[in-house]
Amino acid sequence: MTTTRHFPTDFLWGAAAASYQIEGAVEADGRTPSIWDTFCREPGAVLGGDTGDVACDHYHRMPQDVAMMKELNLASYRFSVAWPRVCPDGGPVNPAGLNFYSRLTDELLEAGIKPWLTLYHWDLPQALEDRGGWTERDTAYRFLDYALAVHDALGDRVDAWTTHNEPWCSAFLGYTSGGHAPGRSEGVAGVVAAHHLLLGHGLFVDEFRRRGGTPEQGKAVGITLNPTVADPFDPAREADVEAARRLDGFHNRVFLEPLFHGKYADDLSRDTEGMLFQCRQWEEFVLDGDLELISAPTDFLGVNFYHGDLPAAVPFDVEPDELLGSRIEHSPRHRESPYPGDGFVFPRTGRPTTDRDWEIDPAALTRLLVRLREEYDAPPIYITENGAMAHDVLEDGAVHDVGRQQFLEQHLHATLDALEQGVQVDGYFVWSLMDNFEWSYGYAHRFGIVHVDYDTQVRTPKDSARWYADVITQNRLPV
Ligand code: NOJ
Repeated sequence: MTTTRHFPTDFLWGAAAASYQIEGAVEADGRTPSIWDTFCREPGAVLGGDTGDVACDHYHRMPQDVAMMKELNLASYRFSVAWPRVCPDGGPVNPAGLNFYSRLTDELLEAGIKPWLTLYHWDLPQALEDRGGWTERDTAYRFLDYALAVHDALGDRVDAWTTHNEPWCSAFLGYTSGGHAPGRSEGVAGVVAAHHLLLGHGLFVDEFRRRGGTPEQGKAVGITLNPTVADPFDPAREADVEAARRLDGFHNRVFLEPLFHGKYADDLSRDTEGMLFQCRQWEEFVLDGDLELISAPTDFLGVNFYHGDLPAAVPFDVEPDELLGSRIEHSPRHRESPYPGDGFVFPRTGRPTTDRDWEIDPAALTRLLVRLREEYDAPPIYITENGAMAHDVLEDGAVHDVGRQQFLEQHLHATLDALEQGVQVDGYFVWSLMDNFEWSYGYAHRFGIVHVDYDTQVRTPKDSARWYADVITQNRLPV
């Protein structure tokens, strides 16, 4: 006999995508270059020399894409706004650029799909990077100007507002490893960038509240992180336990502590001693009042989850192919580790992997969610991304992506496990609505539940999309 596991009645089901990854039309209606437009043109920075110039051409195909979302029963669509469309060169507001998101919002609402808006999914105007980017405090204030312009235009119709998507990537892949735009590998610069990203978040939350943005008014604000479980590879090896502590510091606690405890952890200051970017002290960039702003309560926490992490301290004596190289590289053009000071590797544990060579560990998601509740008293959580990369093949108009479907199913069960342990998880967004520009890996890495033929721009729902549409309708999983 088949039994089922049910999701809560109001559980929000959605799919996610992001501006630079799908829109294309990089010169339309006054948009100016972002750091990704520039980075893509650096030889070797992106696999195959791919760029977001055309991507999924979503900018011109938006109404059809929304119709497709409706056909897939999505209750919500998580998208991001492109800063260089709304404020070209980081300057004054460009109504033509804003208009695209206004039309998108209307189209979604008409289709009965809840818009889930992210203000920053990595496309900083290049002009602001030329003035120092996220290592400059001023960028947080420019972010506020931009974010308020978006809020002026859409605040009446959009209820769910996310400030940043995965600020860890913006900060540490962008400024410490250099594997992502703007491609700077400047050690602890990542920590400084992280603080300014958080400051931008706090400044917007403050204004959002002043403008009456509260759950009572049907409005919610939050941030999306990509926290990981940082387990020592060998818990009996002291150096691995220490590696896990450092990974936890530079990946998780650098965001969780200021957001939820209003402080930076002492071990983080110790771990950055003597390495501070441009010889600055913490007090030079963490100014009075910053932490109060950053730790103001939010209405939800977005969690993006793909894999767990088990670091081992170096020296670690194994052949290179026994290490999960992709976990530290994040880019074909590997520069530095994203973890300042580094000193660890990620050995294979023998778990199965996705085609991205990320080990599949759904139980880690459950443990992570429980930790967020227990240690940080996190507000209601939405899984804002979860999905699998696969080398999909389109054959006779179909993509039989069994592996992706299983991955989603396992992680939905893991989410239910967390719910059963008392964690409030209010929704789930699959990454991604459709195949798209996967940053440094270009178009070779497909994450969509809908296949995109980049020559013809034809969209074909994969088997996983049909399966997901069914799960949404039923609001439950078969056991
Ligand atoms: C997280 C990022 O938010 C998204 O842009 C990216 O495509 C996925 N992870 C997959 O790597």
